[in-house]
Amino acid sequence: MYTSNKEVKKIEKTLIINGIIVTSDKIFKSDILSENGIITEISQKIEAKGNETIIDAKGKYIFPGGIDPHVHMQLPTPAGFSSDNFYTGSKAALFGGTTTILDFVTPKKGQNLVNALSERKNEASNSLTDYSFHVSPIDFHENIENEICEITKSGINSFKVYMAYNIGLKDDVLLKIMKIVAKSKGIITVHAELGDEIDKLRNNSAKNGNLSPKYHAVSRPNYTESDAVKKIINFSEQTNCTVYIVHVSTKESLEHIRNAQKKGIKILAETCPQYLLLTDDKLFGEFNETSKYVFSPVLRKEKDNFALWKALKTENIQTVGTDHCPFNLSQKKLGENDFRKIPNGAGGVEHRLSLLYTYGVRKNKISLNDFVKLTSTNTAKIFGLYPKKGEITVGSDTDLVIWNSKINEIISSKYHHSNCDLNIYEGTIINGKPEIVIKAGKVCIKNKEFISSDIKGIFLKRKI
Ligand code: URP
Ligand code: ZN
Ligand code: ZN
Repeated sequence: MYTSNKEVKKIEKTLIINGIIVTSDKIFKSDILSENGIITEISQKIEAKGNETIIDAKGKYIFPGGIDPHVHMQLPTPAGFSSDNFYTGSKAALFGGTTTILDFVTPKKGQNLVNALSERKNEASNSLTDYSFHVSPIDFHENIENEICEITKSGINSFKVYMAYNIGLKDDVLLKIMKIVAKSKGIITVHAELGDEIDKLRNNSAKNGNLSPKYHAVSRPNYTESDAVKKIINFSEQTNCTVYIVHVSTKESLEHIRNAQKKGIKILAETCPQYLLLTDDKLFGEFNETSKYVFSPVLRKEKDNFALWKALKTENIQTVGTDHCPFNLSQKKLGENDFRKIPNGAGGVEHRLSLLYTYGVRKNKISLNDFVKLTSTNTAKIFGLYPKKGEITVGSDTDLVIWNSKINEIISSKYHHSNCDLNIYEGTIINGKPEIVIKAGKVCIKNKEFISSDIKGIFLKRKI
C-alpha cells in the first residue's frame, strides 16, 4: 500500500469569544476564529470544536493591531545608535498594542538605495513585529530612477525625503525625486522644516552664548515648519506627487494642509502624541530634565495642541505615529554644553495607543472608530497594507489587541519596555491599555507578560 511521507501540518486555531470588535467604521459584538494567523470567520456565535486556543474577551474591545508609520530603531547618529534596536523596540511596541512598524532606510553618502535596503532588512530581521520601510533618497545620482523603480517592484512604495538635517535635499533635487516617485506611483513622505533657516538661527543662538536645550526650541520657530509645509505642497502640485507630511506640529502648517486638501492636492498628514500632549515649557530648566525633549520639530504651544486635536477629528490629519527614536541620558549629554550636539529624538512606540485612548477617546476628542483609523486603518490604506493589516475581517492577518479600559497606570522609564532610561511621558496617567496582544494568531502579550513562544516579525511587501 502507498503511504505518503508528507507531514500533515497542524492547523493552529484561536477562537476569541464575547469581544466587542471595533473597526474604523463599526462596533459590534462577535466571535473571531483565526486559523494559522489569518481570520477565517467572524460571527455572533462560533462553536468551539475542541482544538482551538480559546480566549474570552467578554466586555473588552478588540482593535486591529496598531501600525506605527514612523519609527527609527537602531538609528546611527554621532551619539551612537538610537537606544532601541529592532528587537527591543518592537517588543516595546507589542506591549503597547502595535504589531506592525514602518522604519526607514537611510543610505550612506553615494550608496545605492537597493543595497541600503538589503542592509537594513538584515538589521530588522530580529523584529518581533512585522515591518516595512520608507526608503530615503539623500542625493540625486545617475542610476536613482532605476533604483527607485527596483525598490518599488520589491514591495516598497514610500520614499522619505528630508528638507532639513545634513541629509536634507535642495529644492531642485527634491523636485526631480518627486517626479520620479510620482511616475512610479509611489508616495513621498517628508520631514518638512526649513533646514538652512534653522541652521542660521541655531548658529546665531550659539554665537550669543545661548547653548542650553531651550535654544533648540527657540531656533525652530513655527514658521520654520509651516513655510516648509507650504513649499512641499507647492511641489506636490507641480509634480502631481502624493505627499505625506510626517510629524506635523503647528497650527499654521495645518492651515496650509487644509487649504491644499480642499483644492484636491494630494496631501496627507501625520502627527505624534508628543505634539498633541506636550508643550515647549518642558524645555525650560535643567539639562537632565529638559534634554529628553530635544527632538525635531520642537514642542509648541497649547494652541498648536488644540489645532492638532481638531485636525484629527476633521480628518485633515490621517495618522498618529510616534517618531520613536530614543536616546539614553548619557547620549543626550553629548550636548551638555551645546544643544546642537544633543541627539534629536525620543521614544514613544509603547504608549501611542494608551495615550490616544486616554486623552483622545476618553476626553471625547475622537471616537473609538477614529482611534482605530488613526492608529491602524489609515496607515494600512495609505501605505499599501490594507486589508491584510488595519482591519478585522475574514482574510485579514490575526493581529489583534484585546483592550482593557479599566487598567490605570502611570508611565515611567522604570517600567517601560524600551531600552532607554528616559521617557518624555514620565508621570503621565493612562486609563486603558492592551490586556492581550495577538500577532499572526499567536498570543504574545498577556496580562503585562511577554509570551515569547515563536513570535517573529516578517518583512511586508506593500502594494502600490
Ligand atoms: O528628532 C527627531 N524627530 N529625530 C528622529 C528623526 C526625525 O526627524 O524624524
Ligand atoms: Zn523627522
Ligand atoms: Zn522621524
